[in-house]
Amino acid sequence: MSSPRLVLGIESSCDETAAAVVRDGREVLSSVVVSQIAIHAKYGGVVPEVAGRAHLDQIVPVIDRALEEAGLDLGQIDGLAATARPGLVGSLLVGFSAAKALAFQRSLPWVDVHHIEAHVYAALMEHEIELPVCALVVSGGHTALYRVEAFDRMQLLAKTLDDAAGEAFDKVAVLLGLAYPGGPSVSKLALEGDPERFAFPRYRAKPGRPSFSFSGLKTAVLYHLRGGDATQPTPPPEAIEDRADVAASFEAAAVASLVRPTLDAAEEQGLERVVAVGGVACNQRLRTELTAAGTARGLKVHFPSPAYCTDNAAMIAGLGYQLLKGGKRAQLDADVSPRG
Ligand code: KG4
Ligand code: ZN
Repeated sequence: MSSPRLVLGIESSCDETAAAVVRDGREVLSSVVVSQIAIHAKYGGVVPEVAGRAHLDQIVPVIDRALEEAGLDLGQIDGLAATARPGLVGSLLVGFSAAKALAFQRSLPWVDVHHIEAHVYAALMEHEIELPVCALVVSGGHTALYRVEAFDRMQLLAKTLDDAAGEAFDKVAVLLGLAYPGGPSVSKLALEGDPERFAFPRYRAKPGRPSFSFSGLKTAVLYHLRGGDATQPTPPPEAIEDRADVAASFEAAAVASLVRPTLDAAEEQGLERVVAVGGVACNQRLRTELTAAGTARGLKVHFPSPAYCTDNAAMIAGLGYQLLKGGKRAQLDADVSPRG
């Protein structure tokens, strides 16, 4: 069985419709991402029914653009990969069905991909990193740590006990009256503020029991805005003093709540390499502090480029290539799943 070299990847698990062509699992020939942010912004979050419909409108043009930007036509593609899980079922179905239809129409090998494994692959696609690694997956829906032994073999080491880190950024952004999605807007405002002005709590997991938590931090920010009196109403954003200092102090506490539990767990596991992936891995403070603190402990820390931290299809095509190379093939009855 020859291994396909030019793989078309398709991603539609949440609110990005994406397609990409990757050669030999690493060389990104094109990566097209159409975001639905503007559509969902007025609701303050992703509305599943609206997302599914928007994917339907976008999927064919996005695939066409990915082929065009790669300078290829469909006849030159020799393998397909699509996200099958986890995600919103109505969204997953759109990209997955497109890949399935193309695979059977063209008699091409194809494979179903796990979204979280693909996020981790994004770091391995761009850097030569020896496995095993400790992978922090940190996005709007996930905050978890894995021991990664192979591209498709990951052991869960820790996860958030409550909110995902990205969710905390998004919720604090709402409190501060900032644009959705919150991560980029909180970080932007934080640049103008003092990260040490307010001492918001930093989560520390118990030794030997790695975990993350963000609800205490979120509540601390809320109570701070209410002047320390939980019974008071939350002030409107325009009445909040020192918004930039609140943003910076929150960001510093959120980053510290990721860095220490991650490095402690990596050390406990005897892992020497750490990767951080997912939308929150775009955060500059996280990139700087995880790298500095990791290096100080003798660990090597890598991040994907920001474009491959957030949802994209290059990571799907790249991981798809590796799975196809390993002999994995999806069949006609392959299906999507909301869970991992
Ligand atoms: O991986 P992603 O694109 O989608 C999933 O959730 O799967 O991640 C989106 C999340 C959002 O919560 C967004 O606010 C957060 O990543 N994010 C950031 C930054 N950029 C995106 N959080 C903190 N700082 C950033 N610069
Ligand atoms: Zn994602």
